[in-house]
Amino acid sequence: MRVYLNGEYLEQARAAVSVDDRGFLFGDGVYEVTRARNGRLFEAGRHLRRLERGLEALDIAPPAGFEPGGGGGGGGGALVEIADRLLRDNGLMNGDALVYLQITRGAAERTHHFPPAGTPPTVFLRTNRLAAPDDVRERGATVITTPDLRWERCDLKTVQLLPNVLAKQQAVAAGAFEAVFVRAGIVTEGASTNVFVVIDGAIHTHPVTERILPGITREIVLELAAERGLRVVEQAVLLEELRGASELFLTSTSTEVMPVARLDGGAVGSGRPGPVARQLHAALRERLERDATRAPAV
Ligand code: PDD
Repeated sequence: MRVYLNGEYLEQARAAVSVDDRGFLFGDGVYEVTRARNGRLFEAGRHLRRLERGLEALDIAPPAGFEPGGGGGGGGGALVEIADRLLRDNGLMNGDALVYLQITRGAAERTHHFPPAGTPPTVFLRTNRLAAPDDVRERGATVITTPDLRWERCDLKTVQLLPNVLAKQQAVAAGAFEAVFVRAGIVTEGASTNVFVVIDGAIHTHPVTERILPGITREIVLELAAERGLRVVEQAVLLEELRGASELFLTSTSTEVMPVARLDGGAVGSGRPGPVARQLHAALRERLERDATRAPAV
């Protein structure tokens, strides 16, 4: 597999970052995971806008030409070109793939405060084949709940993911697919997914605040639900309400729409994937297929 690192395309085994990289020392950077279908990036613009917001919030200046929202060909041109080339070079022009992109504050002598102005950020991209977890989707996932121990800027997609890592490991150790965070009795999101709950026929999900990542799949699923006349309430759900929900499902770039069948050892609704999740998953797949076959923009 070939990857991109700071201006070079090289075999992954040869790609190395400095031990002084602030991503390594401090988790001082942001990342994005974007989906590609048949070599075409899905919703690249939305991912680039989220990246740009994260860079701005952390005050990391991307290298010239890499500005996600402008500069260098505009609209993240350089980043999209790199992703396109990696997909081609790695034989990922057919089927589903993921593009991972990370920008850190670069390598400099270790100080907590920012390094000297002009320290070049580290830019890294890689691609890999996506094996969608369709077997889990078929029977419905198992999830556990766990306290949300994260900081108060969960809206930023930073590489500092320790609470998410620990929560996901707790889930895996319990034989579960995902850990759902609960903060002060309120369901926020999953360790790497957004959470949707169907109560009395309406779809509830946490509003976009600093408590959750504004998921791109979340946003698209909300649009698809509205187009289908489904009732959506962007309002936080309490853990007690979750226990009585008729359906629970997760969304993310790699898991798409994932129905949940079991929560903390008990059944969710019928204990099988529910109709709302199934309908929205079908709608999302349709959107993915449509975008992947649309003629490339000129
Ligand atoms: N995770 N919430 C969290 C905490 C996430 O890490 C993610 C994505 C999501 C869903 O966002 P999106 O729909 O934009 O993928 C929600 C990615 C895929 C990851 O960390 O690998």
